[in-house]
Amino acid sequence: MTTKENDIVKIFDTTLRDGEQSPGCSMNVDEKLKIANALNELGVDIIEAGFPAASPGDFAAVNKVAALNLRSTIAGLARSQQGDIEAVAKALEPAPNKRLHVFIATSPLHREFKLQMEKEQVLESIHNSITFAKKYFDDIEFSAEDAGRTELDFLSEAFKVAVAAGAKTLNIPDTVGYTTPIEFAKIFTHVKKDFKDRSDIILSSHCHNDLGLAVANSLAAVEAGARQIECTINGIGERAGNAALEEIVMALKTRKSYYGIETRINTKRLYPTSRLVSHITGSTVQANKAIVGRNAFAHEAGIHQHGMLKNRNTYEIMKPEDVGIEKTSLVLGKHSGRAAFKERLKSLGIVYKGENLNDLFAQFKKLADRKKDITDEDIEVLVLGKQSQSGPWELFSLQVQTIVKHGHQNATAIVELLHKGDPVIATADGDGPVNAVINAMRKAMNTEIELFDYRIQNISIGDDAQGEVKVSLSIDGKQRNGTGASTDIVEATALAVINSINREHKRQQQGLTNNSRHAIETQNDTVRAAQGAI
Ligand code: KIV
Ligand code: ZN
Repeated sequence: MTTKENDIVKIFDTTLRDGEQSPGCSMNVDEKLKIANALNELGVDIIEAGFPAASPGDFAAVNKVAALNLRSTIAGLARSQQGDIEAVAKALEPAPNKRLHVFIATSPLHREFKLQMEKEQVLESIHNSITFAKKYFDDIEFSAEDAGRTELDFLSEAFKVAVAAGAKTLNIPDTVGYTTPIEFAKIFTHVKKDFKDRSDIILSSHCHNDLGLAVANSLAAVEAGARQIECTINGIGERAGNAALEEIVMALKTRKSYYGIETRINTKRLYPTSRLVSHITGSTVQANKAIVGRNAFAHEAGIHQHGMLKNRNTYEIMKPEDVGIEKTSLVLGKHSGRAAFKERLKSLGIVYKGENLNDLFAQFKKLADRKKDITDEDIEVLVLGKQSQSGPWELFSLQVQTIVKHGHQNATAIVELLHKGDPVIATADGDGPVNAVINAMRKAMNTEIELFDYRIQNISIGDDAQGEVKVSLSIDGKQRNGTGASTDIVEATALAVINSINREHKRQQQGLTNNSRHAIETQNDTVRAAQGAI
């Protein structure tokens, strides 16, 4: 049976916009471009690239994503204001397929306390902004922020005004993750009735995960007629995050006979994209996370293994290969040549050429001197690490001495860093090796660094396995993540700190804002009277 257009649900990815609003997950422009390319390859229909009005840096980042010339439609977010809409129009100029995503809050709480607007003023703002936007865009999405807590009648009114002015996609956000699946489905059923004669109007869901219901709510919306789902890779997003793209896509695929709906996602790219986003944002994927967690396909219990050996379907509803987890027992080692290395990169879907390939091969050789077997996971981390370690700071050398006596531990670290090539050395003590290294780096970099969170995970198996360290730091008061990997976990720690500092340096140079939508909305509260809504 061929798929009818109606049986397709569009996947609208907002990793680069809503996902970036999660603490520590801010990305620099190069990182955003890498993720945008990966999302395009994954097959998402729409990539929300950011909020151009937030700052010149955010504008430039969206503009660069737009210039990538991707197959996916590129969307930019705007408040219901002319200036924001003009910024999106300008930033998206180079994109072959573009969309404006304009929003205003509709719930009583937001109307009264955030907007200080009456219902009529909200409707007027929707009418004015979308009418204005029609000058620039054919493809307009309107979001009723906090729709989940909006009176149904008013929501209907708001959407009718938006459609009359020219919006084609109506997004129903559960902004605070408050609704439940049946309740959320009822909102869609209600709105759908209003547009039953308009097959060109697409209803969209946008769920936050505060009660752990984001994916369930999104799927309930699909059952009630939503044909676009907004989501993020690994479910990243502010607070408890957004609906996880990989979970929604695999639920629809695995339960196709139930939902009768398809997506255009190449599911084999789910795992590599998840790893890329986790690496870039420094946000860990929990081991038991559905689809992309490291235990998602692990069958520990003997009884399961017995069943699995007889027939995989006994305990496995999806195949790891379907989501791009390719297991190979072949390992490389220090005698492996360039050709074998290049061949393995190719089989992992990684294309490296010329100088870049030479550099990567040299790093592979260094790693092979420290570690007997080089697995696919090691290669993947090598590639991701190479992509993210550039910046003014580099680790040159590191010495740590730890003394444990009668349960008391003391450590001293000497770190030698290079700052734009110039050596900077510092020594510091600490309660343990990690503490001593971070103290020494704080001194060497002359920067206020505070450690919020520290996680370490082995990349492959064995005593000589690499450890991947993810740190969450407060750098001069801003929360920033970083990742580093090495066979030496203290070195991995130092690399993770450097990664975090270099990333922040780049963001500052690029003039990017912090958690853009809320930052600008808060700013806006103070200047609202002067600006006024259009
Ligand atoms: O959660 C939300 O309401 C949003 C809107 C801007 C769509 O992110
Ligand atoms: Zn949101």
